[in-house]
Amino acid sequence: MKQLVCITPGQLEYQQGQQPEVKENQSLLKIKRIGICGTDLHAYEGTQPFFNYPRILGHELAAEYVSGDAPGFKAGEPVTIIPYFNCGKCIACRSGKPNCCTSIQVCGVHVDGGMREYLVVPSSSLLHGDGMSFDELALVEPLAIGAHGVRRAGVQPGEYVLVIGAGPIGLGIMEFARIAGGHVIAMDINEQRLQFCREKLQVAHTINAATEDVMKRLQEITNNDMPTVVIDATGSLKAINNAFQYMAHGARYVLVGLQKNEICFSHPEFHKREATLMSSRNATREDFDLVMQSMKKKLVNPATYITHRVAFDNVKDEFASWLKPETGVIKAMVELG
Ligand SMILES: NC(=O)c1ccc[n+]([C@@H]2O[C@H](COP(=O)([O-])OP(=O)(O)OC[C@H]3O[C@@H](n4cnc5c(N)ncnc54)[C@H](O)[C@@H]3O)[C@@H](O)[C@H]2O)c1
Ligand SMILES: [Zn+2]
Ligand SMILES: [Zn+2]
Repeated sequence: MKQLVCITPGQLEYQQGQQPEVKENQSLLKIKRIGICGTDLHAYEGTQPFFNYPRILGHELAAEYVSGDAPGFKAGEPVTIIPYFNCGKCIACRSGKPNCCTSIQVCGVHVDGGMREYLVVPSSSLLHGDGMSFDELALVEPLAIGAHGVRRAGVQPGEYVLVIGAGPIGLGIMEFARIAGGHVIAMDINEQRLQFCREKLQVAHTINAATEDVMKRLQEITNNDMPTVVIDATGSLKAINNAFQYMAHGARYVLVGLQKNEICFSHPEFHKREATLMSSRNATREDFDLVMQSMKKKLVNPATYITHRVAFDNVKDEFASWLKPETGVIKAMVELG
């Protein structure tokens, strides 16, 4: 079996691996699509915290079910997985939050992922992909991250939702904030990505934080109320610290984006708003189900995010180019036969 291994930062290598053995509570998958995300790119760059090498990357997966003991799954059927393998015993797992299990093992991050022909996964991680294309199935996970962030925020119809960062994660947040009935305001410093929000996602309000007076624009759009929901999807410390001032009184601020440093904000400013600050990690089965239903109902069409396609054999040569913003990459999709 062919597999692509990230040996050290900046070095990918095709290797021949053993076809994995299937044990109890596991299933064997034949990989069909792998979506590339920021996590993979950061791991390759060497900027992903707590990352060990060598590692097989890839967690946004579409596959064919081959064999195993997953009840109700048949050989040859299309599937995707929830790639956050959890312990089932810790306080988070016992409280219905397997997405933040204390000993979480994310496929392609903490354990080897899907950049290979065959992959063994816990049978409990599987989702039926009936009626969906392999492209769509590989896009479920990044959208589920956004759906989870929106659910954390508890977006109500008619609320102004400021989404900062219009990368693949931010786009998913915008889609599910809209589905929840929110009025989405998209903010970024990349005009090309804001244009994508206007044209492909029909986002009515976009703000370029690099060229516009953000406070003034937000006041205009919200009739001086300011957004009652702010969601970060930049992972930029500067953007995260700045956004505390964009919250309406009584607002919720959800951090989907992640960075390594300490966040700093004015306590009196936070206090006077009686604001709520939340983090949002991964996603749960409920979020995956919502994403798949929304795709089937054509409420979201994330296939438009795919800007680059590459055969598995060419990933090694193309990978570094996806780090360059000038290639205009939103989502690169790897195809296997
Ligand atoms: N919650 C989770 O479990 C989870 C899962 C996956 C990714 N993430 C995080 O989500 C974040 C976004 O991921 P992505 O793949 O969409 O990243 P991305 O890099 O493609 O997108 C980030 C966007 O933020 C914009 N940006 C950067 N600085 C800005 C600023 N100061 N003001 C406004 N916009 C700014 C960039 O121009 C870019 O368009 C990352 O921090 C990533 O680590 C979180
Ligand atoms: Zn991802
Ligand atoms: Zn656990």
